[in-house]
Amino acid sequence: MEADIARILIHSSEIAARNRELANEIAAHYADHDSGLTLVPILSGSIVFLADLIRHLPLKMKLALVQVSTYPGATTRPADPKTILELTGDIEGRHVLLVDDILDSGRTLRRVQAMIRERNPRSLSTAVLLRKPDKAPDDVMVEFVGFDIEDLFVIGYGLDYNDLYRNYPHVGVLHPELTP
Ligand code: IMP
Ligand code: MG
Repeated sequence: MEADIARILIHSSEIAARNRELANEIAAHYADHDSGLTLVPILSGSIVFLADLIRHLPLKMKLALVQVSTYPGATTRPADPKTILELTGDIEGRHVLLVDDILDSGRTLRRVQAMIRERNPRSLSTAVLLRKPDKAPDDVMVEFVGFDIEDLFVIGYGLDYNDLYRNYPHVGVLHPELTP
């Protein structure tokens, strides 16, 4: 696996430090209403981020999962997001924090945020580990952002290419000949 990675963009130690800061921001935001909180991770890209983040969150919370596929198979260009797993829990009247790995074109989050709003949550906020600010559209709100990055296709720390490299501990960039 290591041989496929051209360079590390964000080291795991930087991610760990930023996760603690993000958790503090999120904990402060929900301090007064932690009994009604549900985190909704968008599978599969957010699982590593979610697992690290929630262990720094001293809040009472539930999890409800949703799975959306935007980059099917061996492509780095987004297709229309497809719902693969419907929301696994009831979020009506609850404070919802959506968690995703990356805000790129915003199609995925636009679709999932609309789907969540239809189910009448008490509030909706969104946390992403990464954002590509040059591409992120103005109408997709994210309240908590780990890192702004340049417009590169990245892998690792949950992010995949063709379902590979999710277990790479850093956020990195593949050798160009490995992607189309
Ligand atoms: P968007 O819908 O274009 O904002 O893309 C969001 C989803 O596409 C993310 O949840 C990721 O799963 C995937 N994605 C977007 N950019 C990248 C990337 O650079 N590397 C790997 N996956 C990506
Ligand atoms: Mg994803």
